[in-house]
Amino acid sequence: MGASHVPLLSMRGISKNFGAVEALVGVDLDVHAHEVVALVGDNGAGKSTLAKIVAGAYTADAGLIEIDGQPTTIATPGAARELGVATVFQDLALCDNLDVTSNLFLGREVRNGPLRDDGYMEATARRVLNALNSRIPSVRSPLSTLSGGQRQAVAIARTLIGDPRIVVLDEPTAALSVAQTAEVLTHIERLRELGLGVILISHNMTDVRAVSDRIVVLRHGRNNGTFEAATTSHEEVLAAITGATVRREPRLHALR
Ligand SMILES: Nc1ncnc2c1ncn2[C@@H]1O[C@H](COP(=O)(O)OP(=O)(O)OP(=O)(O)O)[C@@H](O)[C@H]1O
Ligand SMILES: [Mg+2]
Repeated sequence: MGASHVPLLSMRGISKNFGAVEALVGVDLDVHAHEVVALVGDNGAGKSTLAKIVAGAYTADAGLIEIDGQPTTIATPGAARELGVATVFQDLALCDNLDVTSNLFLGREVRNGPLRDDGYMEATARRVLNALNSRIPSVRSPLSTLSGGQRQAVAIARTLIGDPRIVVLDEPTAALSVAQTAEVLTHIERLRELGLGVILISHNMTDVRAVSDRIVVLRHGRNNGTFEAATTSHEEVLAAITGATVRREPRLHALR
């Protein structure tokens, strides 16, 4: 748990409908600095929808969001970036034909007068990859030559370019081998060491238990339990995911 009691991000009563589909109903979520919060639940539970609301890609129909205790709205992806929220979506949105540096700076190339400032961008690319303890051979490697785990590292490193405080990762290990997964999990631990708040969306309970501090379960778009990772059994979390247990716990403190 983070040392600070004011969460970096606090969401209360978040609801989102798509026509007749209630994707989220009154969902609460807190993330502190130096904390990895796993967001788990079955297919269609609403995880990605919540991630997109944090990312400013969707707007909630109801609910409140605070960052550092300040009420805020995250109306656009640009607003999310300015608030220090960075997201890696389920499809990484990287370009295979470009090198690592170009992918990190995709859509925000740094110029020095009329020219791309390749020296600056490559130095920054090395810096953020080092910060993640990434072992990518060269920042000039074309993405097509990297493993799935290394691509995920590039996608995570890309979020660090904007100097975020909250990073949302949607299924970062879904398509990875065991070794690649282990590598990505160390990157997530680095994000926590760097003081960020991390929301980790995952189906893989082994990964979740390996790196998360707290586990928040969604079921059919609703909160169905929050667990301390260190003191909760696999079975308890699974039961909350499948609905074998229904946890109508006391709601988190209302926002002011
Ligand atoms: N753009 C959309 N239009 C209509 N319905 C949507 C849209 N996005 C999500 N939904 C619906 O909202 C619900 C929640 O979807 P969401 O993608 O958030 O689930 P998820 O927990 O991320 O699932 P998964 O584990 O499969 O990624 C589902 O019923 C889904 O079909
Ligand atoms: Mg999803």
